[in-house]
Amino acid sequence: MHLSRRRLLYGSAGVAVATMAGCSTDGESSSLSGFTGIAMPTQTSDRWVIEGGFLEQQLQEAGYKTILQYGDDDPELQITQIRSMVDQGVEFLIIGAIDNRSLGEILATAKNRGVTIISYDRLILDTPDVDYYASFDNYEVGVLQAKHILDRLGVQEEGVEGPFNIELFSGSLDDSNSQYFFQGALDTLERYTYSGVIAIPSNETEQEVTSTERWSGAVAMDRMTRLLEDHYEDRELHAVLAPYDGISRGVVYALEDFGLAPGTDEFPVVTGQDAEALSVQFIRDEKGQSQTVFKDTRDLAAVASGMVKSIVNGNDPEVNDLGTYNNGFKFVPSYLLQPVNIDQSNWEEELVGSEYLTVEDVDNAVEPQEF
Ligand code: GAL
Repeated sequence: MHLSRRRLLYGSAGVAVATMAGCSTDGESSSLSGFTGIAMPTQTSDRWVIEGGFLEQQLQEAGYKTILQYGDDDPELQITQIRSMVDQGVEFLIIGAIDNRSLGEILATAKNRGVTIISYDRLILDTPDVDYYASFDNYEVGVLQAKHILDRLGVQEEGVEGPFNIELFSGSLDDSNSQYFFQGALDTLERYTYSGVIAIPSNETEQEVTSTERWSGAVAMDRMTRLLEDHYEDRELHAVLAPYDGISRGVVYALEDFGLAPGTDEFPVVTGQDAEALSVQFIRDEKGQSQTVFKDTRDLAAVASGMVKSIVNGNDPEVNDLGTYNNGFKFVPSYLLQPVNIDQSNWEEELVGSEYLTVEDVDNAVEPQEF
């Protein structure tokens, strides 16, 4: 069996890391005040709540006015919020999009009024009006998830024949990041699926059929339950590629309901992303999920607010990638940060050591989503 390769819709798979850092023009200070609208997608995931706060704080510390709003995963609501920010006269928009294809019209209006538009973490597609993109190496996120599966299953060890049964989950189809995460993972698993060491019994390998609408854990839980009932009554499942912690926990709950006990050999390897406190607790305490990807969102917020500050000070923002993220109109000048693999061996050093989380956060974490 082999995975059908979906070509990336936009741009190339590999992330070029051409360094153009510091290509500022050292211009005169602008007449801009720095007034910024921050449109975040949701509050159901820790990261966006924390980042909204960071962005607001960093911009306010620079003396700029800000408006911060959360779109509750509703694309129409997000458009209304952005329209109101534009009407209130923002000079900058920092947007974590909900539906990456729905913002063209409102961004055209914003652009006509001279607003600079920064696509935050998720690339906004199908519009010429995005000026900058601040994100992580999203392809690498998928590589790290797939590598964890290969390592934990011992697939690369000599003499291992398999087959190991795995199932794949991808993110929301309306989020451009999903395809980069998924492609990074598929490319990493590919030689083992070609050789038959890894099998995907459901045969569900395309991005669409594996996708999880709005990254919902409950949606993932339902799909995992169906996969287990249809394909695993008489078969062992060895690993699940899950692209984001909320999805990972939905997968874990479905596996538990199916009668599998976390922390035992029968429980599949489950990956994740975002280092949410509850998922870190699962990793630490062997409660089902064994990996996540840490993207230091404090750094991302600093990159995005730094872009605003540069422009206000009359300089070009620093970017380090011009050739990876094509949004359908152009390659958007990007600043990409590096993601970090997290498992039981390094969560404390990386997450507590960098003060991203405290041990108490991990101890006291509760499920932020509804299942
Ligand atoms: C993606 C983001 C991930 C995760 C996911 C669900 O766009 O890159 O880190 O947060 O959304 O919120």
